Amino acid sequence: MRKLPKLTPQKSASVGPTNGHAAQNLNTTTTTIGKPSPHESAKLHLTGAALYIDDIPTPVGCLHAYVGMANVACGLLKSQNLSSVASALGVVDVITAKDVPGHIDIGPVFGGDPLLVEEQINYFGQPLFAVAAISRDAARKAALLGHAVIDSTPPLLSLEQAQINNKKVRPSHSLVKGDSAVALQKSMHRLTIDQQVGGQEHYYLEGQVCLAIPQENGGVLVHSSSQHPSEVQKLVAEVLALAMHKVVVDTRRMGGGFGGKETQAAQWACLAALLAVRNQKAVKLRLARSDDMALTGKRHPFVNQAQVGFDDAGRITAVSAELNGLCGSSADLSDAIVDRAMFHTDNAYYLPAATITGHRWFQNTVSNTAFRGFGGPQGMMLAEQMMDDVARTLGKDPLLIRQTNLYGQHERNLTPYHQIVKGVDLERIIDELVESSEYWARRQAIRSFNKNALKHGGRYVKGLALTPVKFGISFTAMFLNQAGALVHIYTDGTVQVSHGGTEMGQGLYTKIAQVVAAELGLPLESIEVTSTRTDKVPNTSPTAASSGTDLNGQAARNAVLTIKQRLIEHIVATYQADAEAIIFNDGLVSWPSHSLAFAELTQEAYMARISMSATGYYRTPKIHYDRQKAKGNPFFYFSCGASVSEVEVDTFTGTYTVARVDILHDVGESINPAIDVGQIEGGFIQGMGWLTTEELVWGQDGRLQTNGGASYKIPAVGDTPKQFNVALLKNSKNHEATIYHSKAVGEPPLMHGISVWSALRDAIWAAGDEQTNPQLNTPATPERVLWALEAVKASIVGRA
Ligand code: MTE
Ligand code: HPA
Ligand code: MOS
Repeated sequence: MRKLPKLTPQKSASVGPTNGHAAQNLNTTTTTIGKPSPHESAKLHLTGAALYIDDIPTPVGCLHAYVGMANVACGLLKSQNLSSVASALGVVDVITAKDVPGHIDIGPVFGGDPLLVEEQINYFGQPLFAVAAISRDAARKAALLGHAVIDSTPPLLSLEQAQINNKKVRPSHSLVKGDSAVALQKSMHRLTIDQQVGGQEHYYLEGQVCLAIPQENGGVLVHSSSQHPSEVQKLVAEVLALAMHKVVVDTRRMGGGFGGKETQAAQWACLAALLAVRNQKAVKLRLARSDDMALTGKRHPFVNQAQVGFDDAGRITAVSAELNGLCGSSADLSDAIVDRAMFHTDNAYYLPAATITGHRWFQNTVSNTAFRGFGGPQGMMLAEQMMDDVARTLGKDPLLIRQTNLYGQHERNLTPYHQIVKGVDLERIIDELVESSEYWARRQAIRSFNKNALKHGGRYVKGLALTPVKFGISFTAMFLNQAGALVHIYTDGTVQVSHGGTEMGQGLYTKIAQVVAAELGLPLESIEVTSTRTDKVPNTSPTAASSGTDLNGQAARNAVLTIKQRLIEHIVATYQADAEAIIFNDGLVSWPSHSLAFAELTQEAYMARISMSATGYYRTPKIHYDRQKAKGNPFFYFSCGASVSEVEVDTFTGTYTVARVDILHDVGESINPAIDVGQIEGGFIQGMGWLTTEELVWGQDGRLQTNGGASYKIPAVGDTPKQFNVALLKNSKNHEATIYHSKAVGEPPLMHGISVWSALRDAIWAAGDEQTNPQLNTPATPERVLWALEAVKASIVGRA
């Protein structure tokens, strides 16, 4: 034990108790909070040493599984002859729906997702059987040898067909505020919007994969690339007719999830686990990219329609909107996704009267699922088109119309779902961004560039747009807003923490380690965040809704506070120290008269028989929502930001470049600015890709044509804006007690991509001499841009 010079106790400055947990004994300096620490696995990612599931050394005798797929999108499976599959080289086992001992339906909320087809085939490629073989090649080859007798019927693929047949996966639902019909009638101006918003493939770098290893006594250990290990555990247990305590799911990391592994990792895990237990051999199932694209759901395409009323100042007076989500062939998460689209049809704008109806339409395509933003982006697209269209109708700059309609000016703060908008800094964010991006100067320069191009037959036009984002933070399914953690402190003063959240590259583990390190006053190296396992923390929520740090950070902190309390009590009893004066900092625990290395304290505590292990739990306060009434506070708070994009469009070809992007985003008090900026950059690029180059095309037969990187174009490094300025808002007025006053960052930045789409429309509008408001459905591929250019040019010619 060392004597140290007297240290003044330091109260954690910006670190308030956030959840009614004991307010005392928080004495640490928060050295690791707010530091741009690299991702905990950065070196492993870069060197290739990070273990993804396919990198885990395969156990001896490991089998490889694959699925046999339907070659029609709709029909009835009458029979299958799988003898050629069974007798193929290297095949060990073949299973169909009949071999499932427990539940066949693995639908996450409502059902409708059979593990293997029983009779009804709903989409092209739907798995009819699974095969296990001694190598992956052998399994894939054998999977092609099935003979199925199918009564096929023409697939239902379009919204129109779904509407004619009134085929929905869930009932429609509405948000109502005021009387929009009357308000529309009374409005000075009205316009109609009809927009098509495309879907999106997740294109995670690590595809769907699972390794299942049988355990003694009938159990199974499942390594799953899943955002929701607890759900995989439950479904594996149900499919195998096992109790949940026989199943352990382990997820160390995903090579990206983006929502695509919230529910849809389960099918592959259940198949691998079933084959593993049947054969008492480890089984790995890893989909090929083309099959991953064909067999897993995507972002929902939407067709949005609205009637918008507004006044001479461009203030919205009423909106009546219909959102049509194209859900694919089952409910999956579509109820909540279309709800979230409806919750974001206002985006950042006050709608005095609104009726917003969301429909969940069926198609004979694989069931669409969660994707970064979870429907929010598709709803927001309508709000942003409203702003641009109102502006062009009145001949005003769209930015002014956006500012005029923002929430929060003079009590204009009630959403269509009757939550009061609080704690958003949108006005200031936009003001600061207008300034830093030199919006008005560039607007003038671009306008004269375009006028000049028009006059002299120039080939290029430019466009500029500023769009805000206001994104509601919380799961809209209330019960999901909870989290647990487990913390162990060892006698050498090092710490292991496990929590319910999963790491998919977003930096959650890094932030959790920072939280634990800060509370114990330890360097980051002393903290090991171990893989997410259902035997460490039970009954967890998916890592989704951007809530990973908010929920698990608080749970981990609560676990640490419990242990810290015990350590402090020990010090008080042993050294007669004043509890309030004990601080944890720099690997030391000190109070005015004395100091101990943390590792000395833990050794001492062990000898004194003090438990240094604890669980922590957290549930989000204040939220409540009555879906029947469509009223309440579904969101704890909002995450906001804004972006300005400038594009240059080649009017001969419709191709374009994004010249400059400025983003200002409010992450509250950032726990890790490097990670947050990374999330903002990545989210923006992913959103830009969604709205511009990423196009999904299905054939008449319902087969996905764009099933690889050659035909499905995600943004490449060369598509990064030449100038790309990302800044975090300073002095955020975060009003809620979030973990260290940070705000969720995962999904919201995706929606900054909307400014690229809006800037493209701006450029096209200019190419038509500001006469015709262009229709631009997404993805705004060069073809669609060219068609829009032709349409606006035709109208100039028409007039001339
Ligand atoms: N970032 C990376 N690198 N990879 C991902 O898969 N998923 C996004 C976002 N950022 C994702 C990502 C999605 S859809 C969500 S909901 C959040 O991360 C989930 O993590 P969080 O709640 O910890 O932010
Ligand atoms: N966001 C993301 N995932 C979800 C949600 C949500 O609001 N609800 C259920 N799963
Ligand atoms: Mo994110 S779409 O909530 O997984």
